[in-house]
Amino acid sequence: MILRMFGVKELEGSKSVSGGEGTRLRLAELFSKESPLYLIDEPTSHLDAEGVEYLAQRLWSIETFVLVSHDRELLDAQCDSIIEIEHGEVNRYEGNYSSYLEQKKRAFERASFEYEQYIGEMERLTSAYRVKKEQAKNAAKKPRGMSSSEAKVRDFSSMRRSPKGKAKGLERSAENIKKRMEHMEVKEKPKELPKIRPLFSLTDPPRNPVIMEAESLSFTYPNGREIFRNAVFRLMRGSRTVLLGENGSGKTTLIRLILEGKLIRTVPKAKLGYLKQDLSDLDDTLTVLECAAETSVQSPTVVRNILARLLFTARDIEKPVSVLSGGERVRLAFARIFLSDANVLVLDEPTNYLDIPSVEAIQAMLAVYEGTMLFTSHDKTFVRAVATDALLIENKKIVEYDLSDY
Ligand SMILES: Nc1ncnc2c1ncn2[C@@H]1O[C@H](COP(=O)(O)OP(=O)(O)OP(=O)(O)O)[C@@H](O)[C@H]1O
Ligand SMILES: [Mg+2]
Repeated sequence: MILRMFGVKELEGSKSVSGGEGTRLRLAELFSKESPLYLIDEPTSHLDAEGVEYLAQRLWSIETFVLVSHDRELLDAQCDSIIEIEHGEVNRYEGNYSSYLEQKKRAFERASFEYEQYIGEMERLTSAYRVKKEQAKNAAKKPRGMSSSEAKVRDFSSMRRSPKGKAKGLERSAENIKKRMEHMEVKEKPKELPKIRPLFSLTDPPRNPVIMEAESLSFTYPNGREIFRNAVFRLMRGSRTVLLGENGSGKTTLIRLILEGKLIRTVPKAKLGYLKQDLSDLDDTLTVLECAAETSVQSPTVVRNILARLLFTARDIEKPVSVLSGGERVRLAFARIFLSDANVLVLDEPTNYLDIPSVEAIQAMLAVYEGTMLFTSHDKTFVRAVATDALLIENKKIVEYDLSDY
């Protein structure tokens, strides 16, 4: 039996159910039937802590399942084997996700070490080869200021090998060195991503200490569902604030209100960066590189660098946007945000539907983001890595939350 998560667009279709409410419904349906094997695709999308806990409890009682998930906590707690698909190959690692990461890290270190050794040995052999070649050339020449008959006598009396013979010997050892180089196992340099940051000053960031504010926020949906009542909301400059709250508490609603810009005031110099849920702002007729450059205020070098850090290879960046997968489109949309003049990011569950390498790439960039950021996420590892502050929606109010309790 397979639980398939619906795509973003389908979830968007059912506007009156929050993301988490939809996932809960589908999970309940999955677990209502017995099955010898469960194939579970991204079950924690949108789920709050309580929902994830329920799922974890259910998984403990299941003997065999194949789980596709970007929730690293869940993978660590539940899985005893990790299957990775990379460069068209399937690799299996024993142990949980942390153990897999550790094994990958060790493999990377080993590969780097072997590469250094390889390069060192190549350099040594190349210079040995040059020396032998040089010596062979010199040996073939007769010493300066000596006539050829004198040289012959010298060689004969000292029982030396003739210069020709000596030159041949040296040539031979040069050739041997060359052969050794040719037969050495070639080591590839392990790939490491370059580290260049966008110049944040190019976004002309605001200097106000408070970037967004609502002193008394009240909001009720037309059907009578009240979300906020006289709530106070304030977003501080330079903070990366995570918005917490149970499924259905109003996180997405708050983000929509911010983007609407009616009930919540934003300082004039703030330029909002956000992911459009359907990613409709990506022009399908451009290449990845052109699309990233289209709205960029950064240099072409930074554009390429950011794309590389978001896991686009040199070949990928020449692809047309039209052929990109869902995850690739999200990464490209992120590249555009980082390169644009946006200086306040507002992101609602930005890592949903992304694979772990993509989450980690985006997480690494957001964790050093210099602007202001408000985001929601149910991925604890992501929140811990990125957030500097937290706000909690509770009883229709927005309160400060101590991240050390998270
Ligand atoms: N257009 C709407 N009309 C009526 N009710 C709505 C509408 N949109 C959302 N709701 C309800 O408002 C509440 C808050 O929804 P919202 O999407 O903001 O929750 P959330 O905190 O983002 O939840 P989740 O963690 O599941 O994403 C939910 O109970 C939801 O069912
Ligand atoms: Mg939501």
